[in-house]
Amino acid sequence: MLHKKLKPFPSDFLWGASTSAYQVEGANLIDGKGPSCQDVKKVPEGTSELDVCADQYHRYKEDIALMAEMGFKTYRFSIAWTRILPNGTGEVNPKGIEYYNNVINECLKYGIEPLVTMFHFDMPAALDERGSWGNPESVDWFVNFAKVMYENYGDRVKYWLTINEQNMLTLVGPVIGTLHLPEGCTNEIKEIYQQNHHMLVAQAKAMALCHEMIPGAKIGPAPNISLVYPASCKPEDVLAAQNYNAIRNWLYLDMAVYGVYNNLVWAYLEEHDACPTFAPGDAEALKNGHPDFIGFNYYNTATCEASDGTETMDPGADQQTARGEAGFYRGFKNPNLPTTEFGWEIDPMGFRATIREMYSRYRLPMIVTENGLGAYDKLTEDGKVHDQYRIEYLRKHLEQVQLAITDGCEMMGYCPWSAVDLISTHEGMVKRYGFIYVDREEFDLKTLDRYRKDSFYWYKKVIATNGDDLSD
Ligand code: BG6
Repeated sequence: MLHKKLKPFPSDFLWGASTSAYQVEGANLIDGKGPSCQDVKKVPEGTSELDVCADQYHRYKEDIALMAEMGFKTYRFSIAWTRILPNGTGEVNPKGIEYYNNVINECLKYGIEPLVTMFHFDMPAALDERGSWGNPESVDWFVNFAKVMYENYGDRVKYWLTINEQNMLTLVGPVIGTLHLPEGCTNEIKEIYQQNHHMLVAQAKAMALCHEMIPGAKIGPAPNISLVYPASCKPEDVLAAQNYNAIRNWLYLDMAVYGVYNNLVWAYLEEHDACPTFAPGDAEALKNGHPDFIGFNYYNTATCEASDGTETMDPGADQQTARGEAGFYRGFKNPNLPTTEFGWEIDPMGFRATIREMYSRYRLPMIVTENGLGAYDKLTEDGKVHDQYRIEYLRKHLEQVQLAITDGCEMMGYCPWSAVDLISTHEGMVKRYGFIYVDREEFDLKTLDRYRKDSFYWYKKVIATNGDDLSD
C-alpha cells in the first residue's frame, strides 16, 4: 500500500531497548543468587562463561544513566528468577529483591518506564532437576514467582512481559540451552508440547493474577514472531507456509489472546500423537488470561515450500537454517534477502508485513521487544564505534514500523536488542547488538568500560524527534 503522507509515531510511543538478566548482569552466583539452567549448561565452544557478561549487576547505574542520555522512555530487562528465589520456590533472597528495587528506582528517577520480562530463558537449576517445564507443578512455580514480583514491584512496574520467546524455547530449545527431556523419552514432540502447554497455562494464570493484584498494570506475551512466506505461488507452498505460520507463530498468540489451541497446530499434534494433557482447570485458566498488548521480537522472516516427505524435525537446528517437518513444511532459503555477518536474513519489509498480519488477527496494541543487528563491532583507538551498518538496519526497520502505523496498526513502542552489548544466546560476546559498547572480549574482561557507539547518537536523535528524523 502506498501512502501519500505518513502518520507520526504516537506521542506516548515507548522508545527504549532490551536486555536479559542472564546475558547482561553477570554476578551469576553472587549475593545469594542460585544457579539457573544457563549457569549450569556447557557453553558453546569458543564462547565465554556467563559469570561476568556485561557486569550490569555492578554497573546498572551507569547503564541506566546512558539510557537516560539517549532519551529512553522505557527499558526492557528481565528479572532473574534465581536472584529472587534461589531454588525457584521457597525462600526469597532479600538481596535479589533489593537489586531489582534499585534498578527499577534508577529507571524511574529518569522517567524511564521499567518493562519487565518475567522469564527470559533462565529456569532455576533446582527446578530443572525436578523436570523443568515438563513437571505439571511448573505452572505453580511460575505463578508463585510472578506473585513475589507483583508484591514487591507492582507499585512501580506498570508493564510486564510473561515469557520471552516461548516459541523458540519449544522449537529450538537445545540451541538456547533450555531443552530438558526426561530419560527414556520416546515421543520428543509430545514431551516438548506438554512443556509448552504448561508454559501457556502458567502465562495465562500470571496474566490473570497481574490484573487481580496490580490494577492498571499491563501485561503481554513476548514471542518471536516472523511471518512465514511461501517460496512460490504454488498452492502447495502456500499451504506449507500456513502450516509453519501456525506452528511457529499463531499457536502462541491464538492461545495468549483467545485461549484456544490453533486448529492447524492441534491437527499437527494429533498427527504426532503429541496432544498435551490438560490438567483439571487448564481450559478455564487459558480462557481467563487476557493480554493488554502483544510484545514481540522480530529479526527476520522465514520461507517455506511444500514438504517432500523427507524432512526430520530437529529441535537442535538453528532457527536460521532451513528447517522442516515431513508432511508439513520444508524450510527454503529466500534468495531475495541479504544476510548479516552472522548469516541472519535481513528483511525490513517483512517487519511491516508481520505487524500487519498480527494486527489483523489480534487487534491489540503491539510493542517490539527485540529487533537488531548482531555484528563484530570494533572500538577505535579514540574510543569510538562506527556502527553505520546498525544504524542502517534499525533505520530501515523503523521506517517499516511507521508505514505499519500508517496502515492503521497500533504500535506502542520499540525496544531493539540490545541496550548494552551482552552475551549472545550461543555466539558469545563478539556478536554485539548494543548502542553502548562494553570493553571486553570473549575471554579477556579488559576494563568493562562503556563507550557510546555511533548508533547511540543516532538513536538519541530519533527519540528526541519522536521518530520524525530517522536520517543518519
Ligand atoms: C532472541 C533472544 O532470540 O534473540 C535474545 O530473546 C537473543 O536472548 C537475541 O540474544 C539474539 O540472538 P543471539 O543468538 O544472536 O543472541
